[in-house]
Amino acid sequence: MSKETNEHTSAQHDELTNRQGHPVTNNQNVRTVGNRGPTTLENYDFLEKISHFDRERIPERVVHARGAGAHGYFEAYGTVGDEPISKYTRAKLFQEKGKQTPVFVRFSSVVHGGHSPETLRDPRGFAVKFYTEDGNWDLVGNNLKIFFIRDPLKFPDLVHAFKPDPVTNLQDGERIFDFISQTPEAMHMITFLFSPWGIPANYRLMQGSGVNTYKWVNEEGKGHLVKYHWEPKQGIKNLTQDEAEKIQGKNFNHATQDLYEAIENGDYPEWELFVQIISDDEHPELNYDPLDPTKLWYKDDIPWQPVGKMVLNKNPEDYFAEVEQAAFGTGVLVDGLDFSDDKLLQGRTFSYSDTQRYRVGTNYLKLPINAPKKDVATNQRGGQMEYVVDKGKTQNPHVNYEPSIIGGLKEANQKGKEHTPYVEGELKRETIDRQNNFEQAGETYRRLSDWERDDLIKNLVTTLTPCRKEIKQTMIDMFMKCDKEYGQRVADGISKMEDENTSHRNPIGNAEADEAVEQAEKLG
Ligand code: HEM
Repeated sequence: MSKETNEHTSAQHDELTNRQGHPVTNNQNVRTVGNRGPTTLENYDFLEKISHFDRERIPERVVHARGAGAHGYFEAYGTVGDEPISKYTRAKLFQEKGKQTPVFVRFSSVVHGGHSPETLRDPRGFAVKFYTEDGNWDLVGNNLKIFFIRDPLKFPDLVHAFKPDPVTNLQDGERIFDFISQTPEAMHMITFLFSPWGIPANYRLMQGSGVNTYKWVNEEGKGHLVKYHWEPKQGIKNLTQDEAEKIQGKNFNHATQDLYEAIENGDYPEWELFVQIISDDEHPELNYDPLDPTKLWYKDDIPWQPVGKMVLNKNPEDYFAEVEQAAFGTGVLVDGLDFSDDKLLQGRTFSYSDTQRYRVGTNYLKLPINAPKKDVATNQRGGQMEYVVDKGKTQNPHVNYEPSIIGGLKEANQKGKEHTPYVEGELKRETIDRQNNFEQAGETYRRLSDWERDDLIKNLVTTLTPCRKEIKQTMIDMFMKCDKEYGQRVADGISKMEDENTSHRNPIGNAEADEAVEQAEKLG
C-alpha cells in the first residue's frame, strides 16, 4: 500500500468517525422519538457500533487461551560449542555471530479459560515466532521439558480430562486422575506438574523448551536430532500451592502485569537459547527413545549448547490484534530446520493451522502479526477477509496457477541438498519400544529439593484423596513403580487425610447465605 493511500485511510485527527468515515457528532444518545423513546430502526451509527461490539470476540484457543505476548529480537552466536553452527544447520538466522531476527513471543497457561487466574497449576506455553529472512519459524514450546503423552491420538482425551466436567463445568481431580491412572507415560509430567514446577512464579522467571525432538539439516542435507531450551537470564522461580493462593487472592493477572510492566520500565527479559544435538538414529545406548517427548535428555549425557539469546523489549500496541490473533504452529519451519519422526510432533503439526483457520479465519496468515516480514508470492486467492493479493511480482496477474508458459510465479530453486531420510516399515498402530514410563519420573522425584518434594506430595494427596478407591490405588501403585518412597508418601498422606476426613471435592461455603436477605430488603 502506498504512503499516500495509508495517509488517506488512517485518521490524521482525533475526531471520532464510524467505519465508513462519517463523523460521529453524538456518541451519547441513540436517536429516539422525543427524549424518552421509542428508538428508531434507522439508527445506523448505533446499529453499526453495537453489531461490531457483538462480534468482538473470536473463539478462544481450545488450549492455551490465557496468555500474554511481547516483541523483541533473537541474536545468534554463530557457533555450537567450538564449532561453526553450519556444521549442523544451514538455517540463516543462526549463522552469523550478532545477527538479529525480530521475534514475537506468547506465554500462556494451558487448560484454563481466557481470563482465568495466572496462578493456577498448569504447564505454561512458551511460543516464539521468528520473522527470519527465509520466512517465519515458530518454536512452539512449554516451560516444562516433557509432555504427558507421546501419541497425538490421545491429545483430545487428555485435554478433556483436565478441562471442566461437561455436566458440572467444574475442573475435577477425579476425572484428571481417572485418565492419568490409565496413562502411565504421564507419570513423569505429573511429577513435575504437581510440584512447584507446575506454578512458575511468572513468565519472566521460567524456562522454555521445544519438548519435541526436531532436526537440523546442514548444506549437505545431513540431519541431526535436536531439542531446544530457553534459559531465563532473570533466574527461575516457582511457587508452592500456598504461595500461589496468596497471590491469587490479590491479583489474578500477576504474570501478564509483571511482563508488561518490566518491559514498560526498560527491564527487558532475556533468555538464552540452548540446543542438545545427537546423531539422527535410534540411539540403542539410551534406555528411552530419543523421539519420546515424555523423556528428558539429561544434560550430563547430552550437553546443552548455547546458540543465541532473545530479548523482549516491546509491548504489543493492541492485545487483540497481536496477542489474541497470533497463530503459532509446529509446521512453520525454515530451510535448515526439519521435523523428526516424533509422532506427537507430527500430530501437532496438523492441529495448529487447522484450528487457526477456524479460530481466526482462512486468511489468518495475512494479519500483520502472523505474516512473514518478507515478500510473499502465492497462487492462493480469496477466502473471508482477503484484502491483499499475494501475487508477488508476477508479470501476468491472470495466471494464478503454476506451471504456466504465459507468465505467473515460478518454483524457487532448492538451496542446499535436500534431506531425504529413508523410511521403511509395516504400517501399524503400536506404541514404541523402550517406553520406560516410570524410571525418569522416579529420578525427577529424587532430584527435587525437600520443599519441592513436600509440596508435590501435599498437592497429590489433596487432589487424590477425594477420588474413588480404584483410582487412588492405581495411582499409588504407579508412584511406587517410580520410587518406593514416593509411592509410600502418597499412600500415607491419603490415609491420613481420609482419617481426618478433611478432604472435600468441591469446597463451597454457603452457610452464610441468609445474611444478605435482610440487607437486600433495606437497599430496595
Ligand atoms: C496451542 C494442539 C501438544 C504447546 C495449541 C492449540 C492447539 C494445540 C489446537 C491452539 C492453537 C491456536 O488456537 O492457535 C496440540 C496438540 C498436541 C499439542 C494436538 C499434541 C498432539 C503440545 C505440546 C506443547 C504445546 C507438546 C509444548 C511443546 C502449545 C503452545 C500453544 C499451543 C505453547 C499456545 C500457542 C500460542 O501462544 O498461541 N496446541 N498441542 N502443545 N500448544 Fe499445543
